[in-house]
Amino acid sequence: MFVFRNIVGAVVAMAFSGIALAQQTEPSDQEAVEREDAYFDQIGRGAEAWVDTCGRCHNLRAPGELPPELWDVSVTHMRVRANLPGDMAEDIKAFLMMSSESMTEEPASGVDE
Ligand code: HEC
Repeated sequence: MFVFRNIVGAVVAMAFSGIALAQQTEPSDQEAVEREDAYFDQIGRGAEAWVDTCGRCHNLRAPGELPPELWDVSVTHMRVRANLPGDMAEDIKAFLMMSSESMTEEPASGVDE
């Protein structure tokens, strides 16, 4: 499980840096900031629950294995299969969808301006 925790750390760090970049370019009001904080909390809970739960019956599936929209389907399937609490499944789904997106998206253009 030690290795998996490192992977989670790397994935979360990657995703957060992407979101931090987006924050710089889009000024947001207080409400939007609070929504983002809640979203980060959910991603963090989801990452932990993913490591603890999703490797119980088979190997842990990496976020990049499926595109975001298929994680929606798959986690719903696994929620039923493993009888997971609904809020936990939502957290895991948010983590997997966001991570999958950040792994599959094209590199930003104009990086070496
Ligand atoms: C209770 C055991 C169990 C747990 C816990 C579990 N799975 Fe599965 N998973 C299975 C089984 C069994 C299959 C094979 C397909 C089937 O028979 O439903 C599977 C298949 C899959 C597949 C293949 C595609 C699919 O949807 O069938 C993916 C991806 C997957 N699991 C991801 C996850 C994720 C993500 C989690 C955590 C939310 C998870 N699994 C938790 C038992 C489990």
